[in-house]
Amino acid sequence: MKKQKIPWPFGNKKEKLNAWFSFVIALVTGAVVVATCVYSFSFYYSTNNFQASGEIKDCPYGHTFYDDPNLSYSIGDLIENWDEKRAEWLKHHPGYIDGAANRVLLLTGSQPSQCGSPVGDFFLLRLFKNKVDYCRIHGYDIFYNNAYFHPKLDKLWAKPAAIRASMLAHPEAEWIWWVDVDAVITNMEFKIPLEKYKNHNIILNGRPDEVFEKRSWVGINAGVVLFRNCQWTMDFLNAWVSMGPISPDFQRWGRIFVSTFSDKTDPRSTDQSALGYMLLKQYDKWGSKIYLENDYCFQCYWDMAVDWLKKATNSYANIEMNVSELKRRHAELDTQSYGDLREIYLEQGGYGKKTGRRPFITHFTGCSPCSGKHNPIYDGDSCWEGIEKALNFADNQVLRNFGFLRPDLSNASSPVYPI
Ligand SMILES: *[C@@H]1O[C@H](CO)[C@@H](O)[C@H](O)[C@H]1NC(C)=O
Ligand SMILES: *[C@@H]1O[C@H](CO)[C@@H](O)[C@H](O)[C@H]1NC(C)=O
Ligand SMILES: *[C@@H]1O[C@H](CO)[C@@H](O)[C@H](O)[C@H]1NC(C)=O
Repeated sequence: MKKQKIPWPFGNKKEKLNAWFSFVIALVTGAVVVATCVYSFSFYYSTNNFQASGEIKDCPYGHTFYDDPNLSYSIGDLIENWDEKRAEWLKHHPGYIDGAANRVLLLTGSQPSQCGSPVGDFFLLRLFKNKVDYCRIHGYDIFYNNAYFHPKLDKLWAKPAAIRASMLAHPEAEWIWWVDVDAVITNMEFKIPLEKYKNHNIILNGRPDEVFEKRSWVGINAGVVLFRNCQWTMDFLNAWVSMGPISPDFQRWGRIFVSTFSDKTDPRSTDQSALGYMLLKQYDKWGSKIYLENDYCFQCYWDMAVDWLKKATNSYANIEMNVSELKRRHAELDTQSYGDLREIYLEQGGYGKKTGRRPFITHFTGCSPCSGKHNPIYDGDSCWEGIEKALNFADNQVLRNFGFLRPDLSNASSPVYPI
C-alpha cells in the first residue's frame, strides 16, 4: 500500500503558487476591509460626530502581526518580539485592554476520531460540559481542539502545537490554560489565584522535593498547565518540543530521560518527562519562571481526590448549617462572590486540601475514558465510578443555581429534584 503523502511542510511548487494566490487574495481582501473600515468610519464620524470617539473599536484597520506573510502558527518555527506584537495588537483593539492581565482561554481537546469505548464519546461530552460550565461561571473563553496541528505530534505530544496556535489566535488572552480532557473541575466556585502567579510564566502541579531530590518524573503533572501568552513561552514551547517526535534525536531523548529520572522505566520521550527534564537539568534557563503549585488541587490525582469529595460534601453542609447566608438562592453570575464568602468559613474551620475542601481539579490520570482501556493497576470499575461521581458532584454545584439537585452521584440519568 502506498503511504499517504502528508503535505508538510508545504514545500512543492504548486502549493507555493497556491500560497501566492492566497496571499494575493488576502491582500485584496485586506485592502477591501481597510477601505470599508475607513469609509464606514468617516461615514460614522460624519453622522455621529458628537460621539465618535473610539466607538468603532474592533475595525481591523492598522497592521498587526497577522499581516506578516512570514507569520507561522506552527510549533518549532521561530517567532520574535511576540510581547511587542501582542501589545501592538491590543492597541488596535482598545476594547480588550481592560482586564487583559487576567484573561484566560481554557484549551482542551481530544483525538480527531471517534472513541473506542461505546460510552467514550458520552464521557467526553460530559467532561467538556464540565469545563464549559466552569468557563461560563468565571468568564473564561474555551477552545476544544479536535485536530492534530502537526503530523508528527499526536497523542502524547499534541499539546505544545495546540498551545502555540492558541497563543497566536488569542492575543487578547494573557493565559492559555491547558486542561486534559480527563480532568474534572470539581470546585466550580474556585477562582484561580492569578495574582499569586504574577512573576511566573508556567504554573503546574508539582512538588519540588519529588522533582529535585527524588528526581521523579511524576513529581509534576503536565495535564493541567497555565501558560502565559508571551515570548518566553514561545521559546519554551520550541525548546520543549525539540525533545519530542519532531526531533531526529527523539529516541535518544527517551533514553536520556530513563537515566535522568529515578522512576522512569518506559524509554519513551513524553511531554511530561521533557518538562521534568527542563526543570531538573535546565533550571537556570527555565526554572525561575515555572511555579509548582501544591497548596490546593491545581490538579489532584483522582485515586485520592475522589475520597475527598465525600468529606467536602459533609463539611460544606456543616458550614451551611451555621451560615444561612450561604444557603440563599442567587444568580449564577454571583457564584464567585459566594465562593469568596465560603472561603472565609473554610479558612476559619481549618478545612484543608485533604480535610474537607472540594478539590479544584480531580484528574483521572490513567483512566482513558475515551478508549475505555484504563491502566490495569486500577481495580475493576473504579475509574468509571470515580469519573461518574466527580462529574455529578461538579454538576450539582451548577444545577443548584438552576434550582435542582441530583442526589445520586453514581448515576447521571437518575432524577433531579427541586431544591
Ligand atoms: C520573510 O522571510 C524571508 C526569508 O527568511 C525574508 O527574506 C523576508 O525578508 C521576510 N519577510 C518579512 C516581511 O519579514
Ligand atoms: C457550627 O456552629 C457550632 C456551634 O457554634 C460549632 O460547634 C460548629 O463547629 C460550627 N460548624 C462549622 C462547620 O463551622
Ligand atoms: C440510573 O437511573 C435511571 C433512572 O432512574 C435508571 O433507569 C438506571 O437503571 C440507573 N442506572 C444504574 C446503573 O443504576
